[in-house]
Amino acid sequence: MKHEIFEKNVILLVVAILVTVSVGGLVQIVPLYTMDSTIEKVEGMRPYSPLELKGRDIYIREGCYLCHSQMIRPFRDEAERYGHYSLAAESMYDHPFQWGSKRTGPDLARVGGKYSNAWHTAHLIDPRAVVPESVMPPYGFMAEKEISFPTVQAHMKALQAVGVPYTQDQIDNATLDFQSQANGEGDNADTDGLMARYPKAKIGDFDGNPAKVTEMDALVAYLQMLGTLVDFTAYKPEMGYR
Ligand code: HEC
Repeated sequence: MKHEIFEKNVILLVVAILVTVSVGGLVQIVPLYTMDSTIEKVEGMRPYSPLELKGRDIYIREGCYLCHSQMIRPFRDEAERYGHYSLAAESMYDHPFQWGSKRTGPDLARVGGKYSNAWHTAHLIDPRAVVPESVMPPYGFMAEKEISFPTVQAHMKALQAVGVPYTQDQIDNATLDFQSQANGEGDNADTDGLMARYPKAKIGDFDGNPAKVTEMDALVAYLQMLGTLVDFTAYKPEMGYR
C-alpha cells in the first residue's frame, strides 16, 4: 500500500501530479525542437497580392469560414473530391488561418480556377441562380460597394511585422498593384510589375463592371487564387522528419 502516503498527504499528491503532467508535456513538446521545421518547404508560395488580401478581409468580415473550411484532410474521399490534401505551407502566410471547422458548404482550399469569374459573381449575387438547391446567403451588395484602398498598405506592414515576408518593393507599390490586378487594361496599369511581385496572380475585371473596383472584384480575386500557388504535378511529399 505504498500509495497510501499520497492519499493521506494532499500537498505530496499535488506535487506528484505536477511531475507526472510535466513529463507527459515534455515528451510531446521536446521532439518539436529537434525538427528543422514543422512546415514543409514547397515551391510557389508567396504572400497575398493587395487585391487578394482585401478579398480575404471581406471573406473574414462576412464569416464565410462559418460555412466553409479551407483544409483538405489527407483522406481518399477528400482528395478525390477537392484535390491534393492541404499542406501546412499553404497557410503559412495566413493571419489568422481560415481552416474552419464547419462544412455547410464545400471546402474552398482549392476552389481557385474551378469556375469562371462570371460564375463566382453570379453565385455570390444570388447562389440559387446557379445552384438551385443552395442554402448559401446572397451577397449582392458587394458588387455595388467600391473599395477605398489606402488601408491595404498598412495591412501589409502589419503582416510584415508578424513575419510575412513582404518586400519594400511590394509595400511601396501596393496601391498600383491593387489597381493593376483589378483593372489590367487600365492606362496606368503595370501588369508586368504585378506579375513579377506576385507570380500566378490572376488579372482582370473580376465582377464584370470595369467602371469601379468593388468588394466583389477583391473577393473573386481571392477565391480564384485559393490553392493555385503550389504546383502539385511537381510536388513530392517529404517522408519523415529530418
Ligand atoms: C450559411 C452557410 C454559408 C455561408 C455563410 C457561405 N456559404 Fe458558400 N456555400 C454554401 C453552400 C451550402 C454551398 C453549396 C451550394 C452552392 O454552390 O451554392 C456553397 C458554395 C460556395 C461556393 C462554391 C464551391 C464549390 O466548390 O462548388 C463558393 C465559391 C462559396 N460558397 C463561397 C462563399 C463565400 C465567399 C462566402 C462568404 C462571402 C460564403 N460562401 C458564405 C454555404 C454558405
